[in-house]
Formats: sequence, structure tokens, C-alpha cells
Amino acid sequence: MSRTRTSDVLVIGGGIIGLVTAWRAAQRGFTTTVVDPDPGGGAAQVAAGMLAAVTELHYGEQTLLGLNLASARRYPDFAAELTELTGRDLGYRRCGTLAVALDSDDRAHLRELHTLQRQSGLDSEWLSGRDCRRLEPMLAPGVRGGLRVDGDHQIDPRRLAGALVAACERAGVVFHRTWAERLDVVRDRAAGVTASDGTALGAGQVVLAAGSLSGRLPGIPDHVLPPVRPVKGQVLRLTVPKRYAPFLSRTVRAVVRGSQVYLVPRESGELVVGATSEELGWDTTVTAGGVYELLRDAHELVPGITELPLTETRAGLRPGSPDNAPLLGPTELDGLLLATGHYRNGVLLTPVTGDAMAHALATGELPDEARPFTPRRFSAAALTELPA
Ligand code: GLY
Repeated sequence: MSRTRTSDVLVIGGGIIGLVTAWRAAQRGFTTTVVDPDPGGGAAQVAAGMLAAVTELHYGEQTLLGLNLASARRYPDFAAELTELTGRDLGYRRCGTLAVALDSDDRAHLRELHTLQRQSGLDSEWLSGRDCRRLEPMLAPGVRGGLRVDGDHQIDPRRLAGALVAACERAGVVFHRTWAERLDVVRDRAAGVTASDGTALGAGQVVLAAGSLSGRLPGIPDHVLPPVRPVKGQVLRLTVPKRYAPFLSRTVRAVVRGSQVYLVPRESGELVVGATSEELGWDTTVTAGGVYELLRDAHELVPGITELPLTETRAGLRPGSPDNAPLLGPTELDGLLLATGHYRNGVLLTPVTGDAMAHALATGELPDEARPFTPRRFSAAALTELPA
């Protein structure tokens, strides 16, 4: 039989973005519920966990860079706070990143990235191929040069997700372990959700943080439905036997024939190789072609990977948005806030998202650093406004 439970804040989605929002909301004294069949699951179970504000800089994304850097700066304290609270090691590794070029096209691309990084005031150093191999002896002899970025680190997203669940539990967040079936709107205000077990979950404020699923929750009026789409990423996990350690001492990445490939070495011996980027709707099949391309490109970069056991293949869905940036804060529907659309940067943006969403829940406004990411930038009125 259905019943109603009411909280100050109801978060739809228990991925890392929903969890950090719930945790920070509960720390502010809000009674908070998360509705998700599997809290801590989702894209974080697939993601490599690169904190790559500098090496993943793209033309046209300078506004997003500001938010990415703000979140990267928060990471040391954020990770320390979570570890102290939960006693869990997050695999946060301040190891830096090396982005390398394998041919003259790749080198020209990296040179352009270096120029953009310098224009943006970021720290990165151009290295010759020989210097790249001095840093990482497992690199292919043909490496033509690279960018050393000592500020781009990594974290293990699976551990992060587990720690956020534990932190939420300690802070008194209630988990309702089912799907949200529809948003309930009462008198033009988001009032809660009806869960798939029939429970009506009422709330003063509702945060939609359902990753790539955020764009299709029934009950959301069309004009506030977030323009979020799934972008598939296939990722491999290999294991570095102790006798080969240290195989790589930092994240190594490259663009090979136009596709990104990265190798993220964990202290545990796990080596994550990612990622494809495919616009295929809701498909999460691991394909022979995807695995082949990742292994082929990773092998060109680091030939020794063919010796390593391949322990896992998996695909996840990035929540893509029209400008590759997240949608954060209040919407045009009273009581409904968004925390979604983080696309390639969900793990990196976790700390700043938690802070921005807690601020928005408490004050009704986004903090200055998060204002450009209001969902209202995609409203019909904003999209029809022409620049003067
Ligand atoms: N940020 C890495 C990826 O989205 O593949």
C-alpha cells in the first residue's frame, strides 16, 4: 500500500552527483532522501576518474574551465574530509598526467592545446619524445613529444561512490531503493516523486540528478526537461602484476587517429583504459570493435599492455548537454532544481557541484562561480535572445 514520506530535499538519482548533493544538503540540516535502486551505481562504476581540467581543455569551453579548476582546487580537502568521515581510502592520487603525440598530426594538435593552456594561464610543460620516455619508460619509442601537466590527478570513482554512500548514511540521508517513476507537480510546483513501488515521496525541494536519464523522467513539464543525452563510453580494466610495477607512474593519454585514449594507473595495480565516445542512445553493449580500438590505440602508446591480464570491459553513459557543461540549480518550475549534464567531467566536478547545490537549496541562488551553469540558459526565452 502506498504511503507518503516527506523530506526537505528529495534527490532523484544516487550517482556521485546525487550523492554529493544529498550529503551536502544533509550537512546543512535539510532532511534528505535519495531515490535510486542502486545508490553509488551508474556512470561512476565505469569512469576512469581523471581529474583533468588542464589536459581535457577544449576550445570554446573556457567558462567550463573556471568551474573545473574550482572543483580541482577543492579536491584535496574534499577527499580528506570524506576519508576522515568514512575511514575509506578513495584512491586519490596526485600523480599528474602526460599527454603525448605519436605522429606529426598529433603533435600539431598538442602544440595547439599547449598554446590554449598558456593563454588560459594554466601550468603545462612541453617535453621532447625522449623526455617523455624518461618520465615513462613504457611509452612507445615513436612518441614525438608531449605535455607534462603535474596538476591533473585521479581518483577511483568506485571508491568515491562508496564513500559518498557511507557519508550520506552518517549524515542521516534516507535511501529509497527504487526507481523514481514520475515527478509529481502540484499547483505548478514540484512536490516530490511517485516511486516505482507506489510510494509517494513528498519534498519541499526536488533535485533531479539522474545522469543521462535526467532528460526523460515522466511528469517533468516540457519547458524544464533538461536537454541531456547519453554518450556511450566503453572502458577496459587491466591488472598490472606486481612484478611489472611501476608500469606507469601517472596518467598517460593521447589522441590517436582523432580518438582519445587514456591509461590511468591506480596504486592497487588496476590500469584503466578508456574511452570510446559514441552517440548510440541507450545502448551499453561492449563491442568487439570498441575493445579492439581501445587496445589498438593503447598498444600504440604503451606496447607492453599486451602482457597484462584484461580483467573487465564495461560501457557507461555520460550525460551530455548541448554545450558540454552541467546544468545546476533552480529551474523555471518552482521546487525543482537540476544537477545533471556533467558529460566528461562528472568526477572532477563532484566537489564543486555539492557546494553549489547546497548553496542553491539554502538560498535559492547559485554561488557566483556556478551561475553560468543555470539551466535557464537553455530556456526558450534565453535561446531566442539574439546578441546585440
Ligand atoms: N573524461 C573522460 C571521458 O569522458 O572519457
